[in-house]
Amino acid sequence: REAASALTARSTHPAKAPLTSFDPLDRDVIADPFPAYKALHSSGPVHYSRKRGLWIINGHNELRTACRAHDALSSAEGILRLRSQLPMMLTIDQPDHTRLRKLAVKDFNPQALAKLEPEIDRYARELVTNAAGFPADDLIGRVAAPLPLWVTARLLGVPDSDMHDFRRWSDGALQGMAVEWNPKSLLRAGRMIGSVTALHRYFHDQFELRRQNPGTDLLSKLIASTEDGSLSDDELFWFALLLLIAGHETTTTLLGTLLLQFSEHPDQYQQLRDDPALASGAVDEALRFFAPIQGYYRTAIRDYPIGDVTIPAGARVLMLFGAANRDPRRYEDPDTFRIDRDASDHIAFGFGIHFCLGAQLARMEARLFLTHLADQVAAITVTGQPRWDGNPALRRLERLPARLEKSA
Ligand code: HEM
Repeated sequence: REAASALTARSTHPAKAPLTSFDPLDRDVIADPFPAYKALHSSGPVHYSRKRGLWIINGHNELRTACRAHDALSSAEGILRLRSQLPMMLTIDQPDHTRLRKLAVKDFNPQALAKLEPEIDRYARELVTNAAGFPADDLIGRVAAPLPLWVTARLLGVPDSDMHDFRRWSDGALQGMAVEWNPKSLLRAGRMIGSVTALHRYFHDQFELRRQNPGTDLLSKLIASTEDGSLSDDELFWFALLLLIAGHETTTTLLGTLLLQFSEHPDQYQQLRDDPALASGAVDEALRFFAPIQGYYRTAIRDYPIGDVTIPAGARVLMLFGAANRDPRRYEDPDTFRIDRDASDHIAFGFGIHFCLGAQLARMEARLFLTHLADQVAAITVTGQPRWDGNPALRRLERLPARLEKSA
C-alpha cells in the first residue's frame, strides 16, 4: 500500500493510446452512458482522457485480463474517483485481501446458499403475491429493495425490523460514491458522514450484543476473529458496512432493471413465462445490459502493458465494467436485451481476486424473484418516469412507478 500511495497521479500519455473526450463524470454520460460506450468501442479497447488524467479500459477481453493483474493495478487507493484508504477487502491488496476474504468465504459457498434458498424463495413469493394486482406503486420500494435488504439482514443476523433504517443509512453512505470537491457535492458528503456515523453506532451495539451472547450468524463469526487476532476492530466495522451496502444496493437495481426491461420488452417476458428455465439466463443478461456498478478505479503500481500500449506506474485507471459488457467484439448486437443469449461471462461482478463475493447469492435472489414473477404476473406496466440516481459508479434505479398485472 505504501508503494501505491507514494506514487502520484502522473499519467503520461504515450502516442499509441487513443485520446478520448469520454468523461465518466459528465452529467449526460451518467444519465445514459451507453451511446458514449459505443463511441469508445469504435476507437479501441483502452483510452486515455487528458481532461481527467485517467486511463480507461473498456474492451471485454482487456478488462478481464486487467482485473486479474491485481499485482499491477492496485485497489488500495480506493475504487472510487477520490482516493481513500479503507481497511476493507474491496479496497485492499494481497496478502491482507486474502486474510479478510477467507473470513467470510464459507458463508457464500454453495452449501451455505442452499440452506438459505427455501427462506429466500418463501419471502420472494410473498413479496410478488402482495404486489401483484395492486394499484400502481413504486416497485423499487415495494419489491426490489425489500428482498435484498431482508436477505442481508438474515445473513448478518440482525432483526428484519431494522431494514428501514438500513436502507436510509446505506442510501446516505452511498452518497460518498459521488463526492467531488464542489459545494453541491459537500451536501452529499454531509449525508454520507451522518449515515456512516449512525451505522457505526448501530454496529457497535450489535457487536456488543454478540460479544455477550454469540450466535452462528456472520457477524458473530467475524467478532470471534477479532478475539483470535485475525481481524482488527476497525476492519470489523468496515467488513459489516461493506456486506450491508454491497449486499443490497446493487441487487435492488438488478431486480428493478429486470422489471423495467420486461415492461419494455413484453415479448421477452412472454418467453420467460413460457419457459421459466430461462430465468438464470435472464438474470445474467440484465447484469450484462445494465451493470449496477458501471466502473471502479485502480492505481497502477508498476508499468502495465495492455495491448499495444503501456499504462504507466502512478496512473489512475477506470475499469469500465458497464462498457465491457457491451463490447461488440464479444456480444453480437450488444445494445439489444435478449434473455436467450449466453451472457454468463459478463463482468458486472468484476473478475479476479476481487470477484464479487455475493455473486451467487445475488443471482439466486434474482432467479427466485423472476420465477415467482413469471408464475403470478401476466405483464408489467410502467406508469411513470423511472428515476436513476446521478451516481457515476453505482447506476442505481431509485424509483420505478409501475403495476404488476396479476395473471388469470
Ligand atoms: C465485490 C458487483 C451483490 C458483496 C464486487 C465487485 C463488483 C460487484 C463489480 C468487484 C469490485 C472490484 O473489482 O473492485 C455486484 C453486483 C451485485 C453484487 C452487480 C448484485 C447484482 C453482492 C452481494 C454481496 C456482495 C449480494 C454480499 C452480500 C461483495 C463483496 C465484494 C464485492 C464483499 C468485495 C470482494 C473482494 O474485494 O474480494 N461486487 N455485487 N455483492 N461484492 Fe458484490
